[in-house]
Amino acid sequence: MTLLVTWADTDPDTALVQTTDTDEIIRQLDKIGIAFDQWDAAADLAPGASTDDVLAAYRDQVDKLIADHGFTVVDVAQLQPSDEPSWPDVAAGARAKFLEEHTHGEDEVRFFVRGSGVFYLHLDGHVHAVRCEAGDLLSVPALTTHWFDMGTAPNFAAIRFFLNEDGWVGEFTGDPLASRFADFDTLATWS
Ligand SMILES: [Fe+2]
Repeated sequence: MTLLVTWADTDPDTALVQTTDTDEIIRQLDKIGIAFDQWDAAADLAPGASTDDVLAAYRDQVDKLIADHGFTVVDVAQLQPSDEPSWPDVAAGARAKFLEEHTHGEDEVRFFVRGSGVFYLHLDGHVHAVRCEAGDLLSVPALTTHWFDMGTAPNFAAIRFFLNEDGWVGEFTGDPLASRFADFDTLATWS
């Protein structure tokens, strides 16, 4: 279930907001300038569905977002557990890539098609964790300090929208803040 948790950035033990109410999540995120929306995720896409199949399933919504914002590149990022011997290394490597606080030169726009992942937004002395699930569209504004946790067993598919092919390269802040807050696996037990 989609979840929002907010803490003071100095107090990871005290949740100031904890809600799974969609309207409340939209309201709370709107207050801090974060665009969040839910699309009908009725499309039944199997793990490993091709990029073309995923985009075809959401063609109307994807086209509208492109028309509204001028995205030039749209692709699908996905991971699902595998029996391949390389899977633990693949999973750990993918998770580590954006697990520390960073920014991007353009908005980070993601629509979750399957599974889940948690975005942590660090804004105005607070950390806001948004657990996105199928149907959730989140836009992290350019230059917003944030990190992303896909957990120790990544299992998700998300459509990614870019203005520039190289605009999403992470600029890491070096702040170890991320390690102090409840991670994806911990939040999996929260509701
Ligand atoms: Fe990012």
